[in-house]
Amino acid sequence: MRLEIPRYTERFGAVRIHEVLKVLELDSGPGDEEMPGLAVKRIPEALLAEVESQTAIVIPIRNEPLHLFEGVLSGIPHRCPIIVISNSDRDPVDRLEVEEDTFSQYCYFTQRKGVLIHQRDPELAKAISAAGYTDLLDEDGLVRKGKAEGMILGIFIARMLQAQHVGFIDSDNYFPGSVWEYCRIYAAGLALARTPYAMVRVLWRFKPKATSDERIVFKRYGRVSERTNRFLNRLMSTNTGFESEIIRTANAGEHALTMRLAELLPISAGFGVEPFHFTSLFKRFGALLPTNMPEVIDKGIDVFQIESRNPHMHENKGDAHVRDMAVEALATIFHSELCGPELRHEIMATAVQEGLIQEGDAIQAPRVYPPLGPFLDSFMELYAGDLERHYVPAGGVWQSL
Ligand code: GDD
Ligand code: MG
Repeated sequence: MRLEIPRYTERFGAVRIHEVLKVLELDSGPGDEEMPGLAVKRIPEALLAEVESQTAIVIPIRNEPLHLFEGVLSGIPHRCPIIVISNSDRDPVDRLEVEEDTFSQYCYFTQRKGVLIHQRDPELAKAISAAGYTDLLDEDGLVRKGKAEGMILGIFIARMLQAQHVGFIDSDNYFPGSVWEYCRIYAAGLALARTPYAMVRVLWRFKPKATSDERIVFKRYGRVSERTNRFLNRLMSTNTGFESEIIRTANAGEHALTMRLAELLPISAGFGVEPFHFTSLFKRFGALLPTNMPEVIDKGIDVFQIESRNPHMHENKGDAHVRDMAVEALATIFHSELCGPELRHEIMATAVQEGLIQEGDAIQAPRVYPPLGPFLDSFMELYAGDLERHYVPAGGVWQSL
């Protein structure tokens, strides 16, 4: 893969946010020279392969069409371990069983191994509870529903598989080719990182939308992303005094993190999970509030934003869903300690004006889960026996990554 290297970076304390990088070649040919140039970098296939083998891909799934799930699986590079976290209905049809069949068949014929777990599995909840990560559990003692909660489980399991990085891929993607590209982008970005604390966020080149007269428009940004980007940039500028447009991946569902970074970040519930990465990085490492992690401050945090070549097309979940997502994203900024009264007022006014909430309604604070780091060791110990039950193909023992 050949891509631009960052020519412009904005710093917010220890957080280095690199401008959006474009992919120049999806495949940059054989050979292992990196060919450093002034503005372009070639990431050799061997290096991509090495990083891929260290990157567990977590696929959250809830009641998606099987055709989409199958397509997504086919796009994950062979070397990446796959972890599927399902919250699909078990009743009236046991969708989990169907997903397990699909995944087993895929793993069998492609000669790879994976893990598939239902988010509401009681044994899993027991281990989470015994490890002390009780915020994740609901009143029934099971792991809460939600994509972010599935992602947290994915990080726990990725760590058990000794992955050094973890990347997320939604299961409702129509284009396997874009899934493949996102995973390559993760590997390329992680290979560029100069610190153990790095994050790669995908910016879609286009998001095709069908119009009422049956044309397709290749839109650059969705409304939600445009608005969240704007307010996150405002959050930075109201604290630094310099206007900024550097953040363009506020809602990047497709993103990857080094495990070292994944362990130390709190995670927001709901669909504010991606913008919350930024607000919590700013809070903890933005040099505005005290922090007790000198190692991270010293090494810094790299945030790469990389633009894909493939367009992104996924299931249309309806307007109400998009509205909820928009409010949850804004809530992470609105409730950030770094958000002053003026910006809060602006966010509120925009949310009302754009019909996301009614005048007088509150913007609910997101539920925030604590960083996983302190709970990982005991979870791994407690869950080791049960994890084998979820290896696919059944009975397969996970071989070292
Ligand atoms: N395990 C699990 N548990 N997975 C879930 C759950 C759940 O409760 N709810 C949804 N998912 C899965 C879906 O099946 C899908 O694969 C993925 O999570 C994303 O959910 P969608 O409902 O498709 O979300 P979206 O497409 O509107 O939003 C996506 O893109 C946004 C950026 O545009 C998400 O990735 C957002 O987080 C992201 O901000
Ligand atoms: Mg979707």
